[in-house]
Amino acid sequence: MMALLDLIHKFLNVIAPPFTFFSLCFLLPPYSFSKLFLSFFNFIFSEDLAGKVVLITGASSGIGERGARLSLAARRESSLREVVDRALDYGSPDVLMIPGDVSNVEDCARIVEETINHFGRLDHLVNNAGINSVCMFEEATDITAFRTIMDRNFWGSAYTTRFALPYLRESRGKKIALASAPWLPTPRMSFYNASKAAIVIFYETLRVEIGPEIRVTIVTPGFIESEMTQGKFLLKEGKMREVDQDLRDVQLSAIPVETAGACAAAIVKSACRGDRYLTEPAWFKVIYFWKVFFPEVIEWCYRLMYMNSSPQEAPSKKILDLTGAKNILYPSTLHTSEIKTD
Ligand SMILES: NC(=O)c1ccc[n+]([C@@H]2O[C@H](COP(=O)([O-])OP(=O)(O)OC[C@H]3O[C@@H](n4cnc5c(N)ncnc54)[C@H](OP(=O)(O)O)[C@@H]3O)[C@@H](O)[C@H]2O)c1
Ligand SMILES: *[C@@H]1O[C@H](CO)[C@@H](O)[C@H](O)[C@H]1NC(C)=O
Repeated sequence: MMALLDLIHKFLNVIAPPFTFFSLCFLLPPYSFSKLFLSFFNFIFSEDLAGKVVLITGASSGIGERGARLSLAARRESSLREVVDRALDYGSPDVLMIPGDVSNVEDCARIVEETINHFGRLDHLVNNAGINSVCMFEEATDITAFRTIMDRNFWGSAYTTRFALPYLRESRGKKIALASAPWLPTPRMSFYNASKAAIVIFYETLRVEIGPEIRVTIVTPGFIESEMTQGKFLLKEGKMREVDQDLRDVQLSAIPVETAGACAAAIVKSACRGDRYLTEPAWFKVIYFWKVFFPEVIEWCYRLMYMNSSPQEAPSKKILDLTGAKNILYPSTLHTSEIKTD
């Protein structure tokens, strides 16, 4: 019996690669053509958001700030209120504010419930709430303190999605998940990156389970202007202390940040078209090819540029300091003192 099984695997080892290769040669051209046609079709018949209800978590700062007819959730009430006022100024007909913590399952149920009680429907759910941590795995003084990354980024998304699904099904709505480009093994970001990779595969699986009625758009941003890219993240003690812009400079180096407005606009357009993925800014997609074809080069670059016992001495930060490129690359309106940490 064992011998037969071994034989089957040996046969598959020989047959699977050429089968795949020839399938690629024959199928890729018609497949690419039909995808192109479909994207043109989706572009023409893009959804009109008028009268639609959009629930956004993590709306009190950064990417979550701009949108349509809105239900906005986050923990900091005062920051949320400022965003509500701004959304009304921009012409949103009705904005509901729901203070809540997405790592708490009861809060997630309440966030969806209050949205439905107020608007009577839900068309888009945007899981945007999230936090980052910047610390070498070995430096983490209390490893359990980092569970909150998974609780907020992954579980926060899963909880709200679970409660919202019946309503999204009813409206044939859309699900938008904020991940991050799942191709880069960025040092000091192991927990954050793991939570984002989990989000990608979670929603890819859900896409199969919930079927084509609810479109799932997975957003994989590059670097976007926000409190996070201003240096607000959990440090090695597992606490969000003050904003650490030096460490931010090490991690972001000379990669230009995109404005939150441009990113938010791209997300809205992409969701309305029903795209499966959105990478914003679009040039960030090229990194995927580097990862596929030269994975060792990426690791080697990271080691060379980011790893240094004193982050201040890391070449990734030196590039920024020496060239004086910082002001151009982070055109931010935020000031450290305005960022409220918790
Ligand atoms: N900026 C980038 O370069 C970048 C790149 C890739 C992916 N992303 C992703 O984009 C999303 C938005 O991030 P951002 O860049 O806009 O960062 P941000 O400015 O730090 O915004 C994060 C938002 O999440 C909220 N939040 C944090 N913990 C929460 C909790 N437990 N419950 C409810 N809300 C919570 C925060 O509000 P409160 O503190 O008031 O709760 C805030 O509104 C995140 O998922 C992030 O991982 C960002
Ligand atoms: C890890 O996080 C960084 C910073 O946001 C990002 O550039 C990278 O693509 C992420 N990688 C994964 C696997 O999510």
